[in-house]
Amino acid sequence: MSKGLVVLDFGGQYAHLIANRIRRLHVYASTLPPDACAQDLAEADGIILSGGPASVYDDDSPPFNEAILESGKPILGLCYGHQLLCHALGGAVALGETMEYGAAILEVDSPTGVLKGLAAKERIWMSHRDTVRGLPPGFRTLASTDHCPIAAMADDERRIFGMQFHPEVTHTESGMKILDNFLDLCGSERDWTMENFISDSMQAIVEKIGDRKVFLLVSGGVDSTVCFLLLNKALGPDRVQGLHIDNGFMRLGETALVERLLRDSGLTNLHVVDASAEFLAAVEGIADPEEKRLRIGTEFIAVRDRVLENMGMDPEEWLLGQGTLYTDTIESGGTDHAKVIKTHHNRVGVIEQLLAEGKVIEPLDQLYKDEVRALGEALGLPHHLVWRHPFPGPGLAVRALCVNGANDPAPATAAAAAAEIAAGFGLDVHILPLRSVGVQGDGRTYAHPVVLTGKSTGHTSVMPERDGIPWSSLEKLSTELTNAIPQINRVILQLGPDPGLKQSLKTAYLTRDRLDLLRQADDLVMTALERHGLMEQVTQMPTVLLPLSCDGVGESIVLRPITTDDFMTATFDQLPQDFLEQVTAGLLALNGIEAVYYDITHKPPGTVEWE
Ligand code: XMP
Repeated sequence: MSKGLVVLDFGGQYAHLIANRIRRLHVYASTLPPDACAQDLAEADGIILSGGPASVYDDDSPPFNEAILESGKPILGLCYGHQLLCHALGGAVALGETMEYGAAILEVDSPTGVLKGLAAKERIWMSHRDTVRGLPPGFRTLASTDHCPIAAMADDERRIFGMQFHPEVTHTESGMKILDNFLDLCGSERDWTMENFISDSMQAIVEKIGDRKVFLLVSGGVDSTVCFLLLNKALGPDRVQGLHIDNGFMRLGETALVERLLRDSGLTNLHVVDASAEFLAAVEGIADPEEKRLRIGTEFIAVRDRVLENMGMDPEEWLLGQGTLYTDTIESGGTDHAKVIKTHHNRVGVIEQLLAEGKVIEPLDQLYKDEVRALGEALGLPHHLVWRHPFPGPGLAVRALCVNGANDPAPATAAAAAAEIAAGFGLDVHILPLRSVGVQGDGRTYAHPVVLTGKSTGHTSVMPERDGIPWSSLEKLSTELTNAIPQINRVILQLGPDPGLKQSLKTAYLTRDRLDLLRQADDLVMTALERHGLMEQVTQMPTVLLPLSCDGVGESIVLRPITTDDFMTATFDQLPQDFLEQVTAGLLALNGIEAVYYDITHKPPGTVEWE
């Protein structure tokens, strides 16, 4: 079998995704740290330098062994890797001049080499601040974008290529074609398949567990359910015990539904516990999103320990099982040079400690959501279970924004800049005095949402006529606002009740009342999605509760429908007008909801959840 490709991981959010994409093209790929020596790479067909949060000019940019550039092997640099190639080989990189996040159009001047077969214009995905401004000797430009004159470059003789955008994310439409071209240039054989994944991982589980057992946290989402099934198959039901914890942040009727779905799939070794009071107490009075996450993650382990003790199970004998995916690890800052975007509930301190002690098993930790779904289907899970919308471990707790009272306004300069850009589209804007989490250029942002209002976005005329929604200009405006104004990481439309609403922030924490209101709203939205036959078209649709109020009592809702395969990047969905009108009217009729918004931000710059 071919030795395949090596990806050097500079800490980019998508570094591991590159290896995953290469494996889908049936070539083995592994990931190594950026200071790997030439010997580690001796047998590789080719080398890919990933993106990363650093600038090539940073004193603490990741150490890189430049001798690799002389190896004679084909090399492809992506994003930071592109800038690094340029910097190391004598070109010029400009510091943080132009920011580009999300969708962009690539003008392909030369559809050759890695860009062979591409059209003259291609939709691509960007996430960067620094930009290549001068080619290194021996290179030529293959493609550019409006903001990025050297978006792809090649030294054909040495087979060294760089591109500022990300071919590894699904939203770069010809991304797989580009990677496929690179594999051709590397002369890689296409002899790696996923067929053996199940038997390999079952064997790995048996070896890791030895004579011990697994106590698995089962939320009932696809990850933990597939993990539960795989562990049951590998170890048998007597050596696996599932624990479903109702943390009080579940959807309406979720716990009962999970119990039933798992039982119907033959997974009966499941223990269910209601710990909602403990979880609510753990987050009482907490507004900071990371603090909420840390407390919730820690509480999961406290509840597990208590249940173990009550059930008379020895914690040394029962390893903690989790359905962690690679996405959870990377966004929690889990590789050497990656930044923390947010700490997933399964990556808090006490779990890191258990991991260090070898007391955790996570059989899916190298996979992405789409691979887990494929695995679930291969293991025989029913379609409706495999294709349920994902629901985060901390549940509605990351969808009910909390505020400790203080308004948090954006600077007047940002408001003026936003107003000027929106005026070019005939719209009004105002920046909300609160922040939500986003991801831009491989780093976490905590910035403001901006609301679009005006003739074409008021409730009665948001969408002036059926199918007349101006989606493409809204997408363009959303991207322009978040690219141009660092204080903004999300753009939302006001769906109702009317554009003149004067809302301000109110103090709000995670209380049972707020969660009950959000549960009702979420149920209304999910039921409408089902009724309109949109459940499979939309990958996930968080309903978010914002403590924005006119009267100091009511709250607001944001709808956040997205499409994605792997959750590393996502596009906002463009849902039909009749659906939006019905849902908006339904939500406004709920006691306590006074406004409804619609998130039109891609990821990046916005994450899926609002936090
Ligand atoms: P973001 O907000 O990072 O979400 O774009 C990507 C996907 O991850 C889910 N998510 C989580 N899942 N534990 C989980 O099991 C978590 O702590 C967590 N945080 C986010 C999110 O719902 C989306 O599907």
